[in-house]
Amino acid sequence: MALQLGDTVPNFVQESTAGPIDFYEYAGDSWVILFSHPKDFTPVCTTELGAVAKLKHEFDKRNVKVIGLSVDSLESHMGWVGDIEETQGVKLNFPLIADHDRKVANLYNMIHPNEDNVFTVRSVFIVDPQKKLRLTITYPAPTGRNFDEILRVVDALQLTDKNKVATPVNWKHGEDVIILPSVSNEEAKNLFPEGWVEKKPYLRITKQPEKVGS
Ligand code: BEZ
Repeated sequence: MALQLGDTVPNFVQESTAGPIDFYEYAGDSWVILFSHPKDFTPVCTTELGAVAKLKHEFDKRNVKVIGLSVDSLESHMGWVGDIEETQGVKLNFPLIADHDRKVANLYNMIHPNEDNVFTVRSVFIVDPQKKLRLTITYPAPTGRNFDEILRVVDALQLTDKNKVATPVNWKHGEDVIILPSVSNEEAKNLFPEGWVEKKPYLRITKQPEKVGS
C-alpha cells in the first residue's frame, strides 16, 4: 500500500553520490526532504538540482536535510553532477541516490506505471525527525517543482507542531495564523496574550507565535 501521512517511513540502504546511504542514519534528528527525478541528463531535473543546492542555507536554518533520487547508475550520476555544476553554477551539496535497481523507488511508490513503467514521477516526501511522513506531493515529469512552496510547508509544519495554530491559505512565515478550533477562548487568552480577531467563533486570527523551529 502507498505510504500515507503519519506513517513511519521505511528505511533503506542505497548507493549515492555521497557514498552508501543508510536513510535513517543520514536523517538523524533532522527533517528530511526526499525527492525523485525521472532520469539523469534531463533538463528540468538539472535545473531543480541546481536550485535545491542554492537553497542549502534555507534548509540548514530549518534543520532539514535533502536527498535526491534518480534510477540511473552511480557512474551516470557522477557525470551528470559535472553538468549541473557547469550549467547551474553550483556544486551538488547533498546526496543523489543511485537507485539503479529501483529498490527505493518501489519502496516509496515513486513509479506510476500508467504514467511511465520505468522512470519515477517527481515525488516529494517531507519526513519529520521521528521518521513520520508529513507531506507528499507528486508532480508529472515535465513540470519542475516549486521548492519555495516546499520550504513554506516545512515552515508551516514546524510552526504548527510547536503551537496550537493552523496556517491559512497562502500563508508565509511571519504572517498571521489561525487559532485551532479545539482551543477554547479561555485557553487562548493564555496562549495568545496579544489577543486575536474573531471573525467567527471558529475563525480566530492571531499574530504568528514566536515559537518556531525544528
Ligand atoms: C526533465 O527532467 O527535463 C524531463 C524528464 C522527463 C520528461 C520531461 C522532462
